[in-house]
Amino acid sequence: MFLRELVLPFVRICPANVRINEMTDANVDITFSVQFQHRLRFTGNVLGAGSSVLLDLLEASGDQIPRVQFWIDQYVDEAHPQLRSRLRTLASENKDRFQLASNIQICPGGEAVKNDVHIIERMLKCMNAADLDRRSYVVVIGGGAVLDAVGFAAGISHRGIRLVRLPTTTLAQADSGVGVKNSINLFQKKNWLGSFAVPWGVVNDQQLLSTLPDRDFRCGFSEAVKVSMLKNADDFAAIEAGASAIAARDMNVAWPIIQRSAKLHLDHITLGGDPFEALEARPLDYGHWSAHKLEAMSNYELRHGEAVAIGVAVDTVYSSLVHGLPAADARRVLTTLRNLGLKLDHPVLHETKELFQGLEEFRQHLGGRLTLTMVPNIGTKLDVHTVDRPRMMEAIEFVAAYMRGEAAAMSFGA
Ligand SMILES: NC(=O)c1ccc[n+]([C@@H]2O[C@H](COP(=O)([O-])OP(=O)(O)OC[C@H]3O[C@@H](n4cnc5c(N)ncnc54)[C@H](O)[C@@H]3O)[C@@H](O)[C@H]2O)c1
Ligand SMILES: [Zn+2]
Repeated sequence: MFLRELVLPFVRICPANVRINEMTDANVDITFSVQFQHRLRFTGNVLGAGSSVLLDLLEASGDQIPRVQFWIDQYVDEAHPQLRSRLRTLASENKDRFQLASNIQICPGGEAVKNDVHIIERMLKCMNAADLDRRSYVVVIGGGAVLDAVGFAAGISHRGIRLVRLPTTTLAQADSGVGVKNSINLFQKKNWLGSFAVPWGVVNDQQLLSTLPDRDFRCGFSEAVKVSMLKNADDFAAIEAGASAIAARDMNVAWPIIQRSAKLHLDHITLGGDPFEALEARPLDYGHWSAHKLEAMSNYELRHGEAVAIGVAVDTVYSSLVHGLPAADARRVLTTLRNLGLKLDHPVLHETKELFQGLEEFRQHLGGRLTLTMVPNIGTKLDVHTVDRPRMMEAIEFVAAYMRGEAAAMSFGA
């Protein structure tokens, strides 16, 4: 009886002479799109006078007061001993705006948080124990590594909890904070495990940067150089003119550059037509095929921003050797990176056999054929699918010679 009930409806809709696998008119291809909203804010003191910016981002759903779980980068927590109490005060003074879903959580800072998959499991347990749901908020305060890891945990919990990022490094404010990617490292490969997820909001706060060590402060501007080289020659010229002041942490010069870099990255993501990297080119990864490999090869002794500075320098000289970038412009880029206080050489850069494996890893990460972005003119990009390895080796040697101050390299493009 049961079998008969199950089979009969099928029999009725299938004409006797048509077998089920021939019913092709049931197949459909439908294109659809989903609207996202990106919310980027700039403040001077988000946990003090500017707290309304954060409060306004924590929108309520219906008449429910939003529940919020805060995550803080361990080194940010140490550098700002009053941060946790400020957050607790903010919560107690604004009970009608949000409530704390749990204790404030602290997680390891820097690349360590991305190198241990068990830390993600711990984060998931905390999010579950606090009964967070899709209308709750995870607010993460930290460097790019912590944003990536906490963002990934939030992105896979309930298939996505609202994420508000408060980036605390120049790199994360100028670049990754507005990004739509989360990830951790696995199998000795950068960002192997991750997801695409648009953050609910991003607050770039000047005061949070004040405790950043000089090394990390300077790192972020390699991404600003990168995006300006791809998008706008005037933006590059502004960084070039301000490089020494930025290295000296003059915020009157540095802050507008951070704002502009974040905007250029955001425009690329929201207006570039490929936010989730379905196409073969990934222009924002200019200089990154080697940067990602150098980070892993140096056992993460090199910071992401430092590795990007080296990768940008190498691909800039290569662009000059192979793709017509005028030598004088390549020289301007090297000088700017140097004036920003960034070193452009590291012993692992010369382990070229292993380094070139980075090309294949870069290809695999996106799939399809190898596509690298090069820069034939500052402000213009070019997609290429092959690499002339002897010329790339030449570029690497050249950058190292430039860093050593060798006369021939110093007079290049002069
Ligand atoms: N998702 C993306 O689109 C994207 C884009 C670019 C980079 N990234 C990732 O970002 C990571 C690099 O991030 P980063 O450059 O911000 O470095 P980071 O997160 O490694 O931070 C550098 C160090 O500074 C500490 N720190 C952070 N803020 C501080 C502050 N205000 N005061 C004192 N110490 C502070 C951190 O704990 C860490 O030890 C890499 O893992 C990279 O892959 C992601
Ligand atoms: Zn980067």
